[in-house]
Amino acid sequence: MTYTLKPLTPVLAAEVTGIDLTEPAGPALRKALYDAWIEHAVLVIRDQRLTAPQFADAARLFGDILVQQLKQFVLPDYPEVGTISSRDLPIRDGRLHVRGEEFHTDHSNYPAPPKATMLYAINLPDRGGDTQFVDVRAAYDDLDEATRRAIAGLHSRHVYESSRSTRKMAELTPEQRAAIPQALQPLVIRHPENGRPALYLNTGRMEGIAGMPDDAAHALIARLFAHATQPRYEYRHQWKPGDLVIWDNRSVMHQANADYDPTQLRYLYRIMLQGAPLQAYEEVPA
Ligand SMILES: [Fe+2]
Repeated sequence: MTYTLKPLTPVLAAEVTGIDLTEPAGPALRKALYDAWIEHAVLVIRDQRLTAPQFADAARLFGDILVQQLKQFVLPDYPEVGTISSRDLPIRDGRLHVRGEEFHTDHSNYPAPPKATMLYAINLPDRGGDTQFVDVRAAYDDLDEATRRAIAGLHSRHVYESSRSTRKMAELTPEQRAAIPQALQPLVIRHPENGRPALYLNTGRMEGIAGMPDDAAHALIARLFAHATQPRYEYRHQWKPGDLVIWDNRSVMHQANADYDPTQLRYLYRIMLQGAPLQAYEEVPA
């Protein structure tokens, strides 16, 4: 297969055209896709026509599929494939209430958060419903030395929904709530494959910073979040039917947008890939 790889911004995200993921991918193509995903953090693979099991096969090119947490949002016949549907969303004050409408990284309260999240677009509204990504590696690289030194070695406890969250998480049954993990995560992580440092932030789940008074901790988190979500670190994906997008949860944050017509169907498949426990980035600037 001859394909084209094109960076979408100078910082992050690349587009792949000219491949058909219903056909078996040989080792060379598989490695090229994997390496491009690690480097660019967001890979947009255009023009696919995948069934649910074919989407799962495409996911396995990049890793092992994570069993979905919220059983109410999976395909009954293919429980490894999750769904995101506008029909599942409540309407509040005349607009859709979308899960993930603030920059975040998925399942950061897991001791081993998913390394990747993948979406495959089936039905889309006429306009709106973009997904935005910000590069938390580049955001870390741009921090001044005093800030890097101040945050080196810090950890935050990530819970399902932090006491200061402005993001409303999906409702859980008491059984689901009891089973939800929490985890102490480094504020600066080291990518396990390319060694790059990155900020690890999820304001809706971070319950302060270990060893720091609460107000100071949340002020620091807010400052880092404001820095990392500047437009210069952003790629904004405008969906087309047949787009498969895979992103690296260790390299970017993402957010959804509820700005589309709630009477129109927006329907995507979702799969997450198993990750490993996060490593702290140990190198402290001199
Ligand atoms: Fe998300």
